[in-house]
Amino acid sequence: MNITLLLGIIALAICNAGALAPASLRLRLSPCSSNTETFLFRRKKKIDAANKIDSSPQPDDQEEDSMQLQKSRRSFLSVTAATASMLPLRSNASPDKQINLSNDDLKKIILSDIVDKSFLVSADITRSIYDESATFTDEIDVYTMDKWVKGTKALFIPSGSRVTLIGDVNVSQSEASFRFDEDLMFNIPFKPVCKLTGKVVLTRDESTGLITSYREYWDQSVNDVLKTAKFGKKP
Ligand SMILES: *[C@@H]1O[C@H](CO)[C@@H](O)[C@H](O)[C@H]1NC(C)=O
Ligand SMILES: *[C@@H]1O[C@H](CO)[C@@H](O)[C@H](O)[C@H]1NC(C)=O
Repeated sequence: MNITLLLGIIALAICNAGALAPASLRLRLSPCSSNTETFLFRRKKKIDAANKIDSSPQPDDQEEDSMQLQKSRRSFLSVTAATASMLPLRSNASPDKQINLSNDDLKKIILSDIVDKSFLVSADITRSIYDESATFTDEIDVYTMDKWVKGTKALFIPSGSRVTLIGDVNVSQSEASFRFDEDLMFNIPFKPVCKLTGKVVLTRDESTGLITSYREYWDQSVNDVLKTAKFGKKP
């Protein structure tokens, strides 16, 4: 797990985003130091593109990078997941799956995962309502359930984060969806907390009722979310 790289990306983005932290903290953070920049050479290009610091026309690959960075926390996760050692994949067949749940029963479980378990930051999902082959997708990549769980657990501090359900959880035979509002505390030095809102769509397999894909959408760009970063707000 290359947590240093993850920290660097966020620090660099915060640096680029400007006066976020108190001056004293910014001095200590010093994310613009040459070491960090050298280390983050490959990622820096993407952050710069996302920040649109350079107003001159971007080459095609940077445009693409910029688009990929938008609207997804998994932009961060992809780095974590790509470098983390992965649990072995499990087989699809599993006797403890809750097949053909009614819409109401599925809704109760999802509601509990959101409200009681804050699964968006804790990754504590009720695994029996997900197909073992379920995919977790962002603008950049697709993760297996194991990678998503591992990456999410590594990235956030649930006790310093907050997840609020906005409105209801809508469940049909083909999908479940809900809106959320959250504060994410990142598990890196200085524990920055970022604020965002968005939507999750869970697609169901109509022959089993199990969830086969998780898709998260952010209402704000990654850059705008980083600008909300606060430090040391919660214990
Ligand atoms: C859920 O359904 C309500 C009523 O149809 C709708 O207003 C709301 O936008 C839906 N929520 C999501 C997340 O799709
Ligand atoms: C689940 O529902 C589908 C479609 O209604 C049906 O074909 C299947 O046999 C059901 N499976 C079980 C285990 O009840």
